[in-house]
Amino acid sequence: MDMNQTKIPAEAEAALPAADTRMGRFYRALLKRYPIWPVISFFMGKKVPEHKHSAWYMLGGIALFFFIIQIITGILLMVYYKPGQPWASVNRIVMEVPFGALIRSMHHWSANLMILTLFLHMFSTLFMKAYRAPREGTWISGFILLTLVMLFGFSGYLLPWDDLAFFAVRIGVSEMEKLPVLGPFAADLARGGPDVSMETIGRFYALHVVILPLVVLLMIALHLLFVQIQGVSEPDAFAALPDEKKKYRNFFSDFMIGEIPVWLFMFGLLIALSATLPRELAAEANPMGAAPEGIKPEWYLLAPYQALKLFPGKLELVGMAIMGLAPLVVIALPFIDKEIPTGKRGELITKMAIGGLIGFLGMTIWGLLS
Ligand code: HEM
Repeated sequence: MDMNQTKIPAEAEAALPAADTRMGRFYRALLKRYPIWPVISFFMGKKVPEHKHSAWYMLGGIALFFFIIQIITGILLMVYYKPGQPWASVNRIVMEVPFGALIRSMHHWSANLMILTLFLHMFSTLFMKAYRAPREGTWISGFILLTLVMLFGFSGYLLPWDDLAFFAVRIGVSEMEKLPVLGPFAADLARGGPDVSMETIGRFYALHVVILPLVVLLMIALHLLFVQIQGVSEPDAFAALPDEKKKYRNFFSDFMIGEIPVWLFMFGLLIALSATLPRELAAEANPMGAAPEGIKPEWYLLAPYQALKLFPGKLELVGMAIMGLAPLVVIALPFIDKEIPTGKRGELITKMAIGGLIGFLGMTIWGLLS
């Protein structure tokens, strides 16, 4: 025997699949080369609780699936996209590059589906009280991810440099400029000058294809590490059951395999949407021209945009202050509601979350209809 090969621990021999099965042979060959039994044993022991709300545990994985699609389609788009000729290069992708229009539409639809999935993931973990200790880190890293993913959407929106993109970003950045103290500085930093220009494209491009992917990848790694170390949470009603009544599934052999058909369904949905509702490219941006009628942000930014309309004139700053507080409250949730099982404070937070969800949906629908 090669002296550099490690001995398989007796504990592993007892726990691994039989030595004459394919998996058994694979694990033994791996362990003889690398002494990673503690890691394998940790992952083999991972379990997901099974109860009537278990389906919600799938949402994090679905968000991950859309993120992978974003990376792949984004890399393909980068092959032909030129930040120096933004509109012309996107027009070429749509008109000349084989499958270019499809890849571009997939990038657009997958971004939207990812953000929708993230909202559902956030609200489901909120209602299942998964943010409570010890999962503060998972909650906060998740919220940072949601913010970064929306920034991904906003920065990508400008890149085709069509009329809609240009005026939507011009309005978005000038709203940001109204914020006291940091507003003008942040707006200048984003635009690279007094107005949205080709200079802005350079900045948004660097943000969209280098900075955000790196930061988001790191954040996802951290988020998933937290989930792996702590396992998914158990709802109070499940945790209160006697041990013999609690049912679990193996994370890797059952839960992840069960997620494959869901990913395939999502892929089908994505192709269907991209093929039937392709992403349009409007006329090239003309900064001197008039803004197109009824310009408004993407649906996921509509709620705050619409809510600000409730605070006209000088009251706008008050509206911004209230909306600025909302993310702080969301981040603070695990520190406000710690009681397990849920007590009065937790129930109040559930009611506030229902109110927040209704408000968000109401404002979004109002924005879509107006
Ligand atoms: C790119 C974005 C994200 C990815 C890829 C992601 C992925 C995941 C995955 C795979 C899980 C484990 C399975 C599950 O419970 O769904 C998970 C759990 C969790 N995520 Fe996310 N997530 C993201 C964003 C978010 C956001 C926006 C929040 C909330 C603000 C959040 C909060 C949580 C919490 C609290 C858990 C623990 C759930 C539990 O223990 O029951 N995540 N995430």
